[in-house]
Amino acid sequence: MKVFAYKMHVNDDHLMPDDLLSQEIQAICKRYKTGPEAARAALLDAFRAQPGLIEAIHARHPAEDVTRLRAYKNAIKAARKQIYYQLRQYRREPPGDIDLAARLAAQIAAGEPDEAIRETGEKLLKTHTSTAERDSEAFYEALFELAGKPITRVIDVGCGLQPLAYPYDAASTRLYTAIDGDHAVIRTLEVFAPHLKSTEFAAIQADLARFRWDEAALSPADYDLALLLKLIPVVARQNRDILKCLAEVPAQRILITGNIEALTRYEHIRAREDKALRAFIELSGRRIAGEFETPGEFGYFLT
Ligand SMILES: C[S@@+](CC[C@H](N)C(=O)[O-])C[C@H]1O[C@@H](n2cnc3c(N)ncnc32)[C@H](O)[C@@H]1O
Repeated sequence: MKVFAYKMHVNDDHLMPDDLLSQEIQAICKRYKTGPEAARAALLDAFRAQPGLIEAIHARHPAEDVTRLRAYKNAIKAARKQIYYQLRQYRREPPGDIDLAARLAAQIAAGEPDEAIRETGEKLLKTHTSTAERDSEAFYEALFELAGKPITRVIDVGCGLQPLAYPYDAASTRLYTAIDGDHAVIRTLEVFAPHLKSTEFAAIQADLARFRWDEAALSPADYDLALLLKLIPVVARQNRDILKCLAEVPAQRILITGNIEALTRYEHIRAREDKALRAFIELSGRRIAGEFETPGEFGYFLT
């Protein structure tokens, strides 16, 4: 296996002329939030998949502008598509083959110190695109400035792994309900829940397209705060009925947010995300009580 990998590497080094390859790597890295290694791998995969292209490049470059060849353009398109889909995945592969959720479970079962558990939680947060980009300290500071403290009951819809970073004790939160459609997310949060000493934590796996609030509401009271973080623009693209369901979230106040920059590209998407947030506000009939802003995220605090 090692010999094969070595051969592939030698072949790869000669697959594309250096000047062309580095020019295309730079173009991809300028446009997408990816590194040169991933760009190089996607380009080489795409060039290899175009029959005859490598030979044509070596025969005609630099005397001719080979970037104008149809097969060349197709290869660039395929490489960009590969990078785009890699970046679109909410969940990134954890570094190495360490099963971080299993490590978290073992640490909690063994009663390891909070510091060690927080460290694994931080690594897990880096495995999800939306949480990896967020500075949680700045995020919660901005939230508490708007919402005040204590916040006794919180419902976090489309939560992702963000509950791993929530400051339960500092906010005196006694009940935290987290809902997401992703099985792995909910499994990880279930593993995390016993670590919380003063907060009852409920993790619910549900598709919001078929969800009813009485599955998550406390009777007779409702939640003090609902967190709909980076969720509205995502579900607005899926199914408008989900927005109607979210508009009825049983909470006195709601924080809704969107991204300032695209997950995949160096592109400002604030105006597009804002349109989705404002359409939701109108649908909900709620009032904007404050505006939320952190370096990568913006939103509205609704009452
Ligand atoms: C962009 S991520 C945001 C995650 C988290 N709120 C944050 O800001 O870090 C969107 C989340 O919504 C969840 N989601 C999207 N559509 C859903 C649906 N129809 N039902 C349940 N969860 C959904 C995804 O699994 C994902 O965790």
